[in-house]
Amino acid sequence: MSLFVTFEGPEGSGKSTQARLLYESLHARRYPVILTREPGGTRIGDLIRRIVLDLQHTEMAPTTETLLFSAARAQLVSEVIRPYLEQGGIVVCDRYADSTYAYQGYGLGRDLAELRMITAAATGGLRPDITFYLDISAEAGLERKRRRHAGVRPTGQRSVEQEEWNRLDARELEYHKRVEAGYRELIAQDPERWRVLDARQSIEALAEQIAAIIEPYLASIPRLEAVP
Ligand code: TYD
Repeated sequence: MSLFVTFEGPEGSGKSTQARLLYESLHARRYPVILTREPGGTRIGDLIRRIVLDLQHTEMAPTTETLLFSAARAQLVSEVIRPYLEQGGIVVCDRYADSTYAYQGYGLGRDLAELRMITAAATGGLRPDITFYLDISAEAGLERKRRRHAGVRPTGQRSVEQEEWNRLDARELEYHKRVEAGYRELIAQDPERWRVLDARQSIEALAEQIAAIIEPYLASIPRLEAVP
């Protein structure tokens, strides 16, 4: 058995932090686990990421954008995700195909049936076993991300690490609201797979809930041998 877990949510929902914490806790317990993200996660995918998120690429056509995200995904699935799942491992991925439906489908108004075909070609039909949705309104999420980008901590202090502010973050609030509404539709269409969590909770409280949801799935995953 293997396990494919994805994290979704609007900008600033904290999903990358939770994906990392889940990965770290499983790794510490010697489960075979990898952490990856979209767009990116491979050498080719990282190059595509630079093209697709570059703030200067204002002329990018929606079809180009859709195909670039899908191309990065195709590479990630064939190079990383599928081989690892075939070995019986756990893959934790920060964003996956649902992001394309939410951002390019509901956000940009691309035809959903066409996106499903493109996605099927890119992934070979590979779907996550569980998808966590970190639920926060588009406004609140963007505000969080803006503050982090400016290097302002919740305490008001400036931090050294500034978060990236990319071409898609820069789209207007209405776009992000459509993305959020899109996620709600996707969740309603496939409620078995999604686990919706309130992203306004503390990092620790969220991590505990995620760990509790994952626990029953771990029974079928053998742990790695301890190094003597
Ligand atoms: P990133 O900096 O990784 O942001 P986040 O922390 O929110 O994941 O940027 C990824 C951006 O790309 C984000 O705005 C969502 C967008 N995106 C799509 O529009 N379509 C997709 O298929 C994927 C994977 C991401």
